[in-house]
Amino acid sequence: MTSPRSTLTSTPEWQKLTACRESLKNTPMRALFADDPARATRYFINGAGLSLDFSKNRLTDDVFEALMALARRCKLEERRAALLGGDKVNVTENRPALHTALRNPEAGSLAVDGVDVIAEVNTTLKRMDAFVQEVLSQSRRGYTGKAFTDVVSIGIGGSFLGPKLVTEALQPYRKASLRCHYVANIDGTEICETLAKVNPETTLFLVQSKSFGTRETLENSKVAREWFIERSGNTQAVASHFIAVTANKSAAQAFGIDPENVFPMWDWVGGRYSLWSAIGLPVALTIGMDNFRALLAGAHAMDTHFRDTPLEENLPVVMAMLGIWYNNFWDAETHAILPYDHYLRSLPDHLQQLDMESSGKQVSQQGESLDYQTGPVIWGGVGANGQHAYHQLIHQGTRLIPADFIIPLQTHNPVATHHADLFANCLAQSRAMMAGKTLEEAKAELAASGESEADIERLAPHKVIPGNQPNNILMMEKVTPASVGALIALYEHRTFVQGVIWDIDSFDQWGVELGKKLGQDILPRLLESSAEGKASDSATDNLISLFRASNRR
Ligand code: F6P
Repeated sequence: MTSPRSTLTSTPEWQKLTACRESLKNTPMRALFADDPARATRYFINGAGLSLDFSKNRLTDDVFEALMALARRCKLEERRAALLGGDKVNVTENRPALHTALRNPEAGSLAVDGVDVIAEVNTTLKRMDAFVQEVLSQSRRGYTGKAFTDVVSIGIGGSFLGPKLVTEALQPYRKASLRCHYVANIDGTEICETLAKVNPETTLFLVQSKSFGTRETLENSKVAREWFIERSGNTQAVASHFIAVTANKSAAQAFGIDPENVFPMWDWVGGRYSLWSAIGLPVALTIGMDNFRALLAGAHAMDTHFRDTPLEENLPVVMAMLGIWYNNFWDAETHAILPYDHYLRSLPDHLQQLDMESSGKQVSQQGESLDYQTGPVIWGGVGANGQHAYHQLIHQGTRLIPADFIIPLQTHNPVATHHADLFANCLAQSRAMMAGKTLEEAKAELAASGESEADIERLAPHKVIPGNQPNNILMMEKVTPASVGALIALYEHRTFVQGVIWDIDSFDQWGVELGKKLGQDILPRLLESSAEGKASDSATDNLISLFRASNRR
C-alpha cells in the first residue's frame, strides 16, 4: 500500500475545522439557540419537494462556511459535473456511475463507450411499460390462462433492498391486482415460506441479478424453477413465468429464461443505485408504470437540485458536510436514520447498503492509505418504535450519535390524532436530543414531585440528559412517488459528496469478494461425505465438524 494520503488533513480548510471544533466543544446547542433563535430559519432549506431543518447541529456560520470551503477545496462542483456527465468516476472498474441517467429519459443523449445510454434507458422503459400493462390488464396470463396474482422477486443487495423499500413506501399507490413477495436470503426458510403462499399458475418470478452470478439469487431461482416444474408439470411454461433483469443476458438464457423476457442492466449502474432501472420492475408491477415514472421524476428533481443549487442551499451537500463534521472532527462512529413513517420503515436497510457499501473504504482513489476516517456505521429504525428500544442510548449513553429524522407533514391514514401524536414524538425526540435536561432541571422536577432531599440527591444524576446530540429533520408534504424518489436520490448524492471529500471510489465493492470466495471453499466441506477441501483456522474446522455431526455427514 502506498504512503498515507495526508494532503487533506493538512489543508487550511481542514485545519480551520479542527480549530472550530476546539472552539465549540464546550458550547452546548442550547446556548447556540439561546444566543441565536433565528438559526431555526437560517438553517432551513428546501429542494425537490423536501425541506431540511438543520438548526439542531453543533453549527455556527463560521463552521458552516468552513465546511463549504472544505467542499470547494475538494473540487466538489467539478467532481459533481464529472459524475453527472458520465465520466468514469468508478475508477477501479473504469466505469461511469450514471444512475441519474435512469431517471432523465427526456435528456437528449449521453454516450458511454459509444453507446447512447439515454436511448437505452428509453427503450427499456418502453419495454417495462408494455410488460407492466400486459400483466396489469391481464392480457399476459399464466400457462393455464389465469391472470397473474403474485410476483416473486428473487434478488439480494441492490437487487432487493431498493425495490423492497419503494414497494413498501408506495403501498397507498398499489394496483389491487398483484401481491409482491421478495426473496433474498440463502436461508431456505425465505424461499420455502414464500412458495407456500403462491400458486404456480398465477405467479410471475423475477430473477433480479446484475451479474447473474450471485449464488444466493441463483440457488433460490433454481428452487423456484424446480418447484414450478414439479407443481405445474410444465417445463415449457418456465419461459412465460420467469423474467430476468440482468447485465448478463447469456447466463439468463442458459438458466432457461426466454430472451424476450430478459430486461437489461448496464455496467454504468451500480447495484445499490439500480432501483431506477428494470430492477424496479417489481415496483412498477405493484404501483403501475405511471407511478414508477413519477418516482423517477422525483429523483430527477433532486438530481437537478443537486446539480444547480449553490452548495450552501444544496440539501445533499449540506447533509453530507454535516456528516463529515461529526465523522471526522467529533469522532462520531455511526449515523442514525430515523424515519417517522411506517411506509418508510425499510429506509435504514436500503441506506445501509447504499452508504456502507459505497463509503466503507480504506484507501484513496489512488490506492493510498488514509489518515482520516471514512464511512460511519449507518443504522436506525422506524419512529416512534425506536423511542422504546434504542433512544435511551442516544439520550443517556456516552456516544455522539448524529441522527436524521424523516417525517411527512401529512399522513395517508388520518385516524384519531395519530399523525399529530407521531409528529409530536418526532419533534420531542429531536428537541430532547438537542436540549437534554440539566442537573438543576432534574432536581427541580424531583422536588416538584415531592421527593425527599436525600432522594433528590440520589436520583438526580440518573435523570440528567446531556443533550447536544445533533440531528436533522427532513420533511416532505406526504409520502408519494415523487417525494420517495427525491428522498432516495438525496441520500445517493449525500453519499457521493462524502466520497469526494474522502477521495474514495464510492462505486466499487471489492470488500465483498473475500467472503464469497471463502464461502465457496467451506461449502464442499459441509456437504460432501469426505471432509475434503482446504483446512481453515482451527475454529472454522471445529465448527465444520459440528455441522457435519449435527447433519450426519
Ligand atoms: O454485495 C455485493 C453485491 O454485488 C451488491 O453490490 C449487489 O447489489 C448484490 O451483491 C447483488 O448483486 P447482483 O445484482 O449482481 O446479483
